[in-house]
Amino acid sequence: MLRFLTAGESHGPCLTAIVEGLPAGLAVDTEAINRELARRQSGYGRGGRMDIERDKAEILGGVISRHTTGAPVALRIANLDWSNWRDRWAGEDLPPLTVPRPGHADYAGMVKYDLRDARPVLERASARETACRVAVGALAKQLLAHFDVTVGSYVTDIGGVPAKIPRLSPQELWAQAESSDVRCPDVDAAKRMREAIDSARSDGDSLGGVFVVTATGVPVGLGSHVQWDRRLDARLTAAIMSIPAVKGVEIGPAFDNSRRRGTQVHDAFHPNGKGGITRRTNRAGGIEGGMTNGMPVTVRVALKPIPTTVAPQSSVDLTSGEPAQTQYQRSDVCVVPAASVIGEAMIAWVLAAALVEKLGGDSLAEMAR
Ligand SMILES: Cc1cc2nc3c(=O)[nH]c(=O)nc-3n(C[C@H](O)[C@H](O)[C@H](O)COP(=O)(O)O)c2cc1C
Repeated sequence: MLRFLTAGESHGPCLTAIVEGLPAGLAVDTEAINRELARRQSGYGRGGRMDIERDKAEILGGVISRHTTGAPVALRIANLDWSNWRDRWAGEDLPPLTVPRPGHADYAGMVKYDLRDARPVLERASARETACRVAVGALAKQLLAHFDVTVGSYVTDIGGVPAKIPRLSPQELWAQAESSDVRCPDVDAAKRMREAIDSARSDGDSLGGVFVVTATGVPVGLGSHVQWDRRLDARLTAAIMSIPAVKGVEIGPAFDNSRRRGTQVHDAFHPNGKGGITRRTNRAGGIEGGMTNGMPVTVRVALKPIPTTVAPQSSVDLTSGEPAQTQYQRSDVCVVPAASVIGEAMIAWVLAAALVEKLGGDSLAEMAR
């Protein structure tokens, strides 16, 4: 069984992950992990924090001579911003944050954990934690590569600016997204997305959007129809929904499918001339009955505009009970390009876990056999 946990605060010394269940004998490419971390850090619309951080993964356990041993893999990503917080963190001069930001975890977290200060909540609710997930997802991608499974993403909407996505293979779309700072394959739309981000920034506002994650080369039969918690679509969508600010997810064009008749939606089978089947469409998004069906797995994800805005929003000071305005904390303006990289990591993780379950084996060689 593959599983992982993360620990660490946004402005604490570091983030930590422990990954359990990777087969022994997997070559670990730390530079490839760091490239994924750099992809998450980039993207038009990020805030000042990303100018401070230079995320690098340090492997602390479970890897000897650059290969997994079968023991838990421990990794750490330093927060360079920690040097600006270390003294205040230890002392008493961190003023309490008593005005919760609508849309953030502040209010519910303060009530739930009986806190007068939102800081402990926002320190852990912060999407800084997703740096760890991208590192863990990079390990999953390295495992999936042995089975010819590849995961990529692109952005289709930012702040209500839609892209026209050309009819290209997923690999071609990913390549175009990689050369765009909003990760959008439509160059004209990308320009308008940047303008929308600039406009939101100058108004002190924030923007959401939509991205698509696709996995190719996925074998038939990951997941299962036999039990609710083994359905792979349920596991994929839960993993995606766990990304901060994600509020919607569909497998394939699910909402468009809901407006059509069945005969326009279901992907017809045709003989492939070798005794098997082929399909000309993939409106199921690669999953039927909670199992992968051999077509690319396609997940479309909606992100809300992030909660922290320079422009104040109406709130209440929970100490006095009086009306108050939110106070600006350093923040991003738009994180949709970064979120698409995190989305890749989460999809890679769930597919790797399902592959380990299906194939079994304590070593990569045993899995391959
Ligand atoms: C990559 C990334 C960066 C984010 N950066 C910020 C930020 O700078 N400011 C902010 O208010 N929210 C940011 N968010 C969103 C919040 O973390 C999120 O809205 C908050 O934790 C509440 O969770 P929820 O939106 O899932 O309900 C970011 C999200 C992601 C994916």
